[in-house]
Amino acid sequence: MKNEALEVLRNRRSIRRYKSEQITEAELNAVVEAGTYAPTGKGTQGVKIVVVQSPEYVAAVDELNAKILNQPGSHPYYGAPTILLIFETDECVTHVLDGAAVCTNLLNAAYAAGLGSCWINRCKQMFELPEGKELLREWGLPDTLTGVASIALGYAEGEAPTPKPRKPDYVVKV
Ligand SMILES: Cc1cc2nc3c(=O)[nH]c(=O)nc-3n(C[C@H](O)[C@H](O)[C@H](O)COP(=O)(O)O)c2cc1C
Repeated sequence: MKNEALEVLRNRRSIRRYKSEQITEAELNAVVEAGTYAPTGKGTQGVKIVVVQSPEYVAAVDELNAKILNQPGSHPYYGAPTILLIFETDECVTHVLDGAAVCTNLLNAAYAAGLGSCWINRCKQMFELPEGKELLREWGLPDTLTGVASIALGYAEGEAPTPKPRKPDYVVKV
């Protein structure tokens, strides 16, 4: 069976080197729209996707993640010009699961749109810090939002990594 969507799901890889050039508005919109069509518990769509593109805020989010990593001066978003932050809200009946479903849609849509992306951890802890809460308030968002995941997004620099072989017992048919 040959199918473009299946090829995308099979071939997407985490990208850890990015060009500094910003992605287009059309590419961004295609990716985030796909995120909004992810399944959510009871169809509540309670997830919030925050697009960070201003160099000042990209640097602030990168710094916040490095702080949680306890590696000040490192760049956990690998220099990507766009960062997507995925939050759960109090409407999110299935909480972190909804955010994770949105996150995987975003990653696969990014690959389908010709972009590189990587899921970046520690979003929850970042927005528990006073600096994280301050950023939420600056963005006009409630500082009670709970971080689920974040994504580095941009044009890939260099080749994508080769995936590890899949575990032979990954799938069990009964
Ligand atoms: C919950 C979760 C957290 C992750 N956190 C990070 C991270 O902080 N930094 C990073 O470089 N990759 C992160 N990744 C990406 C994984 O390392 C990557 O998906 C895995 O190595 C498989 O590679 P692939 O995505 O190219 O198939 C994360 C992935 C998941 C699902």
